[in-house]
Amino acid sequence: GVPLRDLAAERGIRIGAAANPYLLEREPDYRALLAEQYGSMTAENVMKWDSLQPERGVYDFSTADVLTAFADEHDQQMRGHTVLWHNQNPEWLDQGEFGPEELRSIMRDHIDTVVGEHFAGRVYAWDVINEPFRDGSGELRPNLWLNTLGRGYIAEALHMAHEADPDARLYINDFNIEGRNPKSDALYDLAESLLEEGAPLHGIGFQGHFHAGGVPEDMAENMRRFTDLGLEVTVTELDVSIKMPASAEELRTQARDYRAVVENCLEVGGCTGVTVWGIGDADSWIPSWFPGRGAALPFDEDYAPKPAYGSLQEALGG
Ligand code: G3I
Repeated sequence: GVPLRDLAAERGIRIGAAANPYLLEREPDYRALLAEQYGSMTAENVMKWDSLQPERGVYDFSTADVLTAFADEHDQQMRGHTVLWHNQNPEWLDQGEFGPEELRSIMRDHIDTVVGEHFAGRVYAWDVINEPFRDGSGELRPNLWLNTLGRGYIAEALHMAHEADPDARLYINDFNIEGRNPKSDALYDLAESLLEEGAPLHGIGFQGHFHAGGVPEDMAENMRRFTDLGLEVTVTELDVSIKMPASAEELRTQARDYRAVVENCLEVGGCTGVTVWGIGDADSWIPSWFPGRGAALPFDEDYAPKPAYGSLQEALGG
């Protein structure tokens, strides 16, 4: 069939995938699918702090640039992931016990170097704030930024990122916010107040880590309340996990879920696209984090298309 990226472009959205340099280098089928099917790419791990600034003031772009070079070669857009998060921070930062002034200058140096100097013009959107809420509640999640700088860390980081790259689209990205619930309500309030204060927030990333059958009915409606604020929305990390071994019926349920997510995006003006969190089932983070679950992606362990791939095609009009 016609590649997903071309179908998506005709519908005015992008379809992307999370990628890993080590797989690009070692798996020809992985390379081929990433290049052919996806018009956008997100670094699954190598644009996080532990990769980019492993020692204080020492930046390493070598693995991230394997991805940007591939993206350039294959005419793909890059989403940057991620600036501030509670996970995958280098030890020097996590254990540093910095005061507010010093932490702020560490934040500024990282943002200037990464979002500005290195990636400006090559990364079109950044998840500036990743997973700021506790799961299942409306409270901000304690992390090194919140603990030291208070809730103002969010606006501060957005301003710094905007100064570093005025063209980048700046996002808050979180999970379990796809439907209306206390967490997405709290995010809505946060987004509204950031916009009122004039913070440069441009979009909301709905990660989209689902269990088969678990796409909320009100997903489109929930995304629309954010676009009504003038924000764009993107599904940033889509996968649909299944209890292993996956039955034919579960694979059909999964296919319907993939279709529903793309249809929800198409239905909401202001949804820029959908990124899936990996290429093939063997590369997915799911089995190692949720033992007993897996088969979460549109291609199987041998990179053959699953029913979910066909339903992505159909949802995009292929
Ligand atoms: O790089 C080290 C390697 O040196 C070491 O030998 C090996 C041994 O465990 O670990 C490797 O690090 C792993 C890393 O992925 C790179 O492969 C970590 O253990 C592993 O925990 C880490 O998992 C990633 C996870 O984020 C960490 O929080 C997943 O690949 C990645 O898919 C996942 O992505 C997150 C998004 O960033 C944010 N939203 C949720 C999503 C899923 O958790």
